[in-house]
Amino acid sequence: MSHNLNGKVALVTGASRGLGKHISKTLADAGATVIVNYANNYKNAQDTVDFIESDGGKAIAIQGDVRDEESVKKLIKQAEDETQGSIDILVNNATGPQPVISIEKLAWQDYLEQLEFFVKAPLLLTKAVLPGMKEKKNGRIINIGSEVVQLGTPNHSNYVMAKAAQLGLTRSWANELGSFSITVNMINPGFIPVERHEAEDTSEYRSGVPLGRMGVPQDIGNAVLFLASDAGNFITGQSLSVNGGNTLGI
Ligand SMILES: NC(=O)c1ccc[n+]([C@@H]2O[C@H](COP(=O)([O-])OP(=O)(O)OC[C@H]3O[C@@H](n4cnc5c(N)ncnc54)[C@H](OP(=O)(O)O)[C@@H]3O)[C@@H](O)[C@H]2O)c1
Repeated sequence: MSHNLNGKVALVTGASRGLGKHISKTLADAGATVIVNYANNYKNAQDTVDFIESDGGKAIAIQGDVRDEESVKKLIKQAEDETQGSIDILVNNATGPQPVISIEKLAWQDYLEQLEFFVKAPLLLTKAVLPGMKEKKNGRIINIGSEVVQLGTPNHSNYVMAKAAQLGLTRSWANELGSFSITVNMINPGFIPVERHEAEDTSEYRSGVPLGRMGVPQDIGNAVLFLASDAGNFITGQSLSVNGGNTLGI
């Protein structure tokens, strides 16, 4: 079964660094033209584009705040104009800060801020790309979740709650869009050190991972590619842990 994405257009949100950068590279290496979305850091987004182009891939950096309806509309319009096509693969990956807060200190606003990234943004983006996907009777929506939903990580209910909500919409949208051959799935990374984790000690986490190592961003890129490609044709509404088995005991 082919992992070839020649002729496809993929949009990866939050692709200026971290997992999004490597998801973008993996999809571009497979032949997709990738829209590298970013919010603030043009230079980092351009680094992702250069990283992709250095191996002969195709990518375009486009700014857009995924929490803002007008900004999302502009982002999709610009992506469609520049690629002269519509989005075939949407990867909802962007995240803002994920503050650790005890119940006593939590405010309702802390929950809303996480929902903006993991529920509102996927909704705005999915609504914007659906006309093109429905017309083609084909599409891929891949939500990047987290193992924290299974772990029930304490003092992080703001983040855990929003990722759990993302799982609910993944399953409901998969049912709703199945008849258009649009698949909707969720990938749940374990702790995958990226730029923002540079100073963190990973030894304790690593000691609990059955596969005995930390994940690398490429592990998530590979899983996204599998679901985005024809190999994932008959998979929808699923939640896939990519964490070396870290949640096996749950
Ligand atoms: N890394 C992990 O260990 C891990 C584990 C489990 C789940 N995850 C999930 O994986 C995803 C990626 O995480 P990460 O660690 O790679 O994050 P990251 O390194 O912090 O990168 C976040 C990205 O989101 C972008 N962004 C921020 N606000 C935005 C907005 N309003 N609109 C559009 N883009 C925005 C940033 O762009 P700018 O640079 O332009 O601000 C950046 O490209 C998230 O959904 C996260 O919850 C990560």
